[in-house]
Amino acid sequence: MTQRVAIIGAGPSGIAQLRAFDSAKKTGQDIPEIVCFEKQDDWGGQWNYNWRSGIDKYGEPVHSSMYRNLWSNGPKEALEFAEYTFDEHFGRPISSYPPRAVLWDYINGRAEKSDIKKYVRFATVVRWVDYNESTELFTVTTEDLKTGKTASSDFTHVVVGTGHFSFPNVPEFAGIGTFPGELMHAHDFRGAERFAGKDILLIGASYSAEDIGVQSFKMGARSVTYSYRTAPMGFDWPQGIEELPLIDRFEGSTAHFSNGVSRKFDAVILCTGYLHHYPFLPSGLALDSPNNVYPDTLYRGVASENNNKLYYLGAQDQWFTFNMFDAQAWYVRDLITGKASIPAAGDQRISIDAWLKRFNAIETAEDEVKFQADYIRDLIEQTDYPMFDLDEVTRTFMAWKNDKKKNIMTYRDKVYPSVMTGTMAATHHTPWLSELDDSLERYMAPVPSESVEDLAATEKAKSK
Ligand SMILES: Cc1cc2nc3c(=O)[nH]c(=O)nc-3n(C[C@H](O)[C@H](O)[C@H](O)COP(=O)(O)OP(=O)(O)OC[C@H]3O[C@@H](n4cnc5c(N)ncnc54)[C@H](O)[C@@H]3O)c2cc1C
Ligand SMILES: NC(=O)c1ccc[n+]([C@@H]2O[C@H](COP(=O)([O-])OP(=O)(O)OC[C@H]3O[C@@H](n4cnc5c(N)ncnc54)[C@H](OP(=O)(O)O)[C@@H]3O)[C@@H](O)[C@H]2O)c1
Repeated sequence: MTQRVAIIGAGPSGIAQLRAFDSAKKTGQDIPEIVCFEKQDDWGGQWNYNWRSGIDKYGEPVHSSMYRNLWSNGPKEALEFAEYTFDEHFGRPISSYPPRAVLWDYINGRAEKSDIKKYVRFATVVRWVDYNESTELFTVTTEDLKTGKTASSDFTHVVVGTGHFSFPNVPEFAGIGTFPGELMHAHDFRGAERFAGKDILLIGASYSAEDIGVQSFKMGARSVTYSYRTAPMGFDWPQGIEELPLIDRFEGSTAHFSNGVSRKFDAVILCTGYLHHYPFLPSGLALDSPNNVYPDTLYRGVASENNNKLYYLGAQDQWFTFNMFDAQAWYVRDLITGKASIPAAGDQRISIDAWLKRFNAIETAEDEVKFQADYIRDLIEQTDYPMFDLDEVTRTFMAWKNDKKKNIMTYRDKVYPSVMTGTMAATHHTPWLSELDDSLERYMAPVPSESVEDLAATEKAKSK
């Protein structure tokens, strides 16, 4: 059979795979037949925001965990595509932490620039993937969500780009069932406006907890309490935000913490992370991993050790995002077309073990960023994806961490230079803390007159 590649998901990872094949085609190379299945009506993955939560209009679990007011939580300079820059897309400098709609626009612009939409079957969910040892083919069974029709088709290779921040990890806490207020996982959180004047509790000490808590403070929550399991985030929180250890038990609206403190809450948000979950794959092929930067069983972080014709993109925990997915997709493309070769099983294990050894020695956040930078460098060196200054991106990440440490409420007002073009980001017309309109239109508008008042309001908040 001639090569046929199924790409599951048209989020940033799936789009990267399509672009990788497209870029080879543009240089005159023969590429396999490719079909991308995307269960939503549009591409962009998490960035294709959905106001719904729970079940979507087709009866499928809603994929996106994003919320209306989400802004990038890392500098855009760290995720910039090496071969499609922000300068090229927007034509002028923009700030370093754009809102969600602006980032979707960038992803979409880059994807639209190449002729890849024709490969995507939208509103088509992959229900099951089987591997037949005798034919060495994958049978991919899909459902067209608009017609309800199912179909099966054979492929030589499968690329999984379905992300791993969609299926919530929902732990049990003693007595939580008695909590009478609003109770949800971060996956279903869509906006903090309704928390104005309320006391809210966030369980978790990572990015979702941090940002949803800060959003709630911005929208006027009376108090924000974080509950951590391993370690507090430790920022210099403004008055009204506090970190406490793990919950011992709930009694109605009262949470009892392990240090003996008890407090009443109006709402609880479980910011307890997500599960690697691939309901369309049998257990031998589905990646089983905690959320970390080097999931075991993936050679060079992409090729399944159990079946070298099955690949995962973006399966790692993510400091780097879009440009890492590119590096992975370019490498997977070359593995599929035979431009790059995969070593024998024993050598794959030696390589995985060597990376795992280094992964297990990681002690600090900086180690982890450097680890991921080296991982990406290793991939790019195997391909023709443009190499970029990964050490400079690492420095940008460290500057970002430092800015957050200095002031968690204002770090999004900071700006950094582009690693790809050298262009300095523009200071945004309105400080993040006082910007209540997160639309693309408002973001791209020339300085609105009320920004002067916004600045004054932010200064007041900073001095609290
Ligand atoms: C709340 C939140 C905020 C984030 N903020 C940032 C940020 O500020 N900056 C940053 O760089 N990164 C951020 N991320 C990380 C995010 O994971 C990446 O930016 C990126 O979206 C990952 O791309 P992906 O394509 O791997 O997965 P996703 O974006 O999750 O896309 C997966 C796609 O697969 C489709 N799909 C899933 N299952 C099936 C199926 N069975 N059949 C067909 N299609 C399927 C989905 O519909 C979706 O379109 C955030 C993540 C979350 C959850
Ligand atoms: N742009 C943005 O502003 C934004 C906002 C939200 C999320 N995101 C992205 O979304 C992704 C996921 O982030 P995330 O914070 O949801 O997940 P995460 O980084 O995996 O963190 C999960 C958190 O849940 C805690 N946890 C897990 N089980 C627990 C339990 N039983 N009891 C108490 N705590 C428990 C963990 O604690 P331990 O530390 O003890 O393990 C950890 O703090 C990241 O890529 C992030 O960048 C971005």
